[in-house]
Amino acid sequence: MATLIARNLKTLEEALSSRKIINKKIGLVPTMGAIHDGHLALVDKCLKLSQVTVVTIFINPIQFNNKKDLSNYPTSIRKDINILSKKKVDIIFIPKAKEVYPIGFSTFIELKSFDNILCGKSRRGHFSGVATVVLKLFCLINPKIAFFGEKDYQQLFIIKKLVRDLNLNVNVLEVKTVRDKNGLALSSRNRLLSKEEKNIASKINSILKEVSIKDLKINKAILQSTSKKLYSEGVTKIEYLEIRQEKSLEIWNPKQFKNKPYRIFIAVRVGKVRLIDNMRLSD
Ligand code: PAJ
Repeated sequence: MATLIARNLKTLEEALSSRKIINKKIGLVPTMGAIHDGHLALVDKCLKLSQVTVVTIFINPIQFNNKKDLSNYPTSIRKDINILSKKKVDIIFIPKAKEVYPIGFSTFIELKSFDNILCGKSRRGHFSGVATVVLKLFCLINPKIAFFGEKDYQQLFIIKKLVRDLNLNVNVLEVKTVRDKNGLALSSRNRLLSKEEKNIASKINSILKEVSIKDLKINKAILQSTSKKLYSEGVTKIEYLEIRQEKSLEIWNPKQFKNKPYRIFIAVRVGKVRLIDNMRLSD
C-alpha cells in the first residue's frame, strides 16, 4: 500500500476508516520530525509488530516553554516524507497546530509527580504539553501499541504512567537509544551543532560510560569529577547530572543503595544547543 499523507483531521479519519485499515492492529510512532535513525528504529519496530504503522510529525508548541527553542526546532518535512514512504509506513499524519489546538483549547493533562525533576525542572510545563499531545494522538488514532525511545527516558516513564493512571488501552513499548559511531545519541537537535560543538558532544557518552556502580560505592563524589571532565572537554553548561533508580526515578542516595538498576541522566548545553542523554549504569 502506498503511504497515505494526512495533513488534517478529516483526511486522517478517512485514512483510518478505509477498508484496508479498519479493524487492523495500529501501531503509532509520534515524532516532531527531522527524522533520523533513532526515529527509524521506532518505525522499524512498529512495522514489525503492527499491521498498520502511523507516524506523526508535529512540532508540538505546548511542550516548548521557550519561543526561540520552538522557532529554531529543525524541520525537513519533504525529506521526512521521502524517508518514511520508502520504509512503507502506512500513514503519515502532519497536522497544523491550529487544528490540534483550535482557538479556545483549554484542557491540559496535569502531572502531579515526575514533572518537577530532571528535564521538568528547567522546562516548566514541558511534560504536561507532551502528555496532552500524546493523549490527543492516542484518542485520534486509537493505536494498540505506541513506541517511545529510551533516549527521552523521563518522557517514556511519564507516558507509561499516563497510560496506567488513565487505564488507556495502549501498550507502550520502549526502544533503545540509537547512537552514532562515537556514542553520541542521535537527536534532531544535533543538526544545530557546529562541527566543533559536535566533537564536544561526542565526548559526553564516553565520559558517562566511565561511571559504574562499583565506582559509586568507592567514590561518593564521582559526579563532581564527571562534571569536571565534561567542562574540561568544552561542555558549556551542565543543567543536571544525576543518578536515579530506573524503575522509580528515585534519586541515588550515596548512603544507601536500593534496588538496582540505576541510570545516569544528563542535560547539557553545548554552545546554545541543549542535549540530553541517559544510560543504565554497569556494575
Ligand atoms: P522527537 O524528539 O521527535 O522523538 C520522537 C521519538 O523518537 C521519541 O519517542 C524519542 O524518544 C525517540 N528518539 C529520539 N531520538 C532517539 C534515539 N537516538 N534513539 C532512540 N529513540 C529516539 O519526543 C518527541 O519527539 C516528542 O516529545 C513527542 C513524543 C513526539 C511528543 O510531541
